[in-house]
Amino acid sequence: MYVERVLRKGLKTQVFGKKIYTFDTIDSTNNCAKAVADCGADEGTVIIAEDQTAGKGRLGRPWLSAPNQNLTFSVVVRPMLQNEGLNLLPLYAAVAVAEAIERATSLHAECKWPNDLLINKKKVGGILIEGSFKDAKVEYAVIGIGINVNQVVFSSDLSQTATSLRNELHADIDRAHLFQEILRSLEHHYKQNTRTAFQSIVPTWLSHSSMLEKTITVSQQGNLVSGVVKGLSQDGGLILQMNGTTKTLFAGDVTVLEH
Ligand code: BTN
Repeated sequence: MYVERVLRKGLKTQVFGKKIYTFDTIDSTNNCAKAVADCGADEGTVIIAEDQTAGKGRLGRPWLSAPNQNLTFSVVVRPMLQNEGLNLLPLYAAVAVAEAIERATSLHAECKWPNDLLINKKKVGGILIEGSFKDAKVEYAVIGIGINVNQVVFSSDLSQTATSLRNELHADIDRAHLFQEILRSLEHHYKQNTRTAFQSIVPTWLSHSSMLEKTITVSQQGNLVSGVVKGLSQDGGLILQMNGTTKTLFAGDVTVLEH
């Protein structure tokens, strides 16, 4: 069970985590964060739960996380972005989480486009951004973060592709400390809060990724597109080279074919 006092003790942020709402069980922290944002919640408000009965992943998938062992939380932000700038937020959040994992453990965390976090090529966490828009501008966004922290056992269908920090480090992780480190990184990289500032995170994201020059296949609603990764666009799209032409993708599921 989360105790707000423990989550807060030693927290070094000023805005992120100023308000923290803790739950034992909730449907989805993203749903709750959207509801409080609709009611005017301040930037940096956090919703954190030990268990989600309807945790959401990308592309309409469920996010399954063992209760009381991992981190599942959402943060409300009000970035100064036009609609299309929303694609930069997963990159910003992934960099913040990767840096926090690296500070809190000795593990190297890798970013996989668009919003996965990998350790030793296995998925350790994911990010789900949900936005609300007004007059072509982002009114607010919810950054949903799920990290497998101390979970040891994964279902047979996930065991080949998913891992936890515990399984990679072979030691238990202090969840409150990791949570605080993530908020610290999120706040640090959020300082300017403009499109240009979020774009400046792209090189850092690339330095945490090994996707450049790899041949990948992207599934987009059942259609498969293959190509070589050439970089990220100004707005966070994945630039793929295929048969002499380049194409920028903004959504999809990525499989890396060559290592
Ligand atoms: C993905 O990899 O598909 C994204 C997973 C995001 C999961 C987190 S857990 C906290 C927040 N609440 C949700 O319902 N989803 C996100």
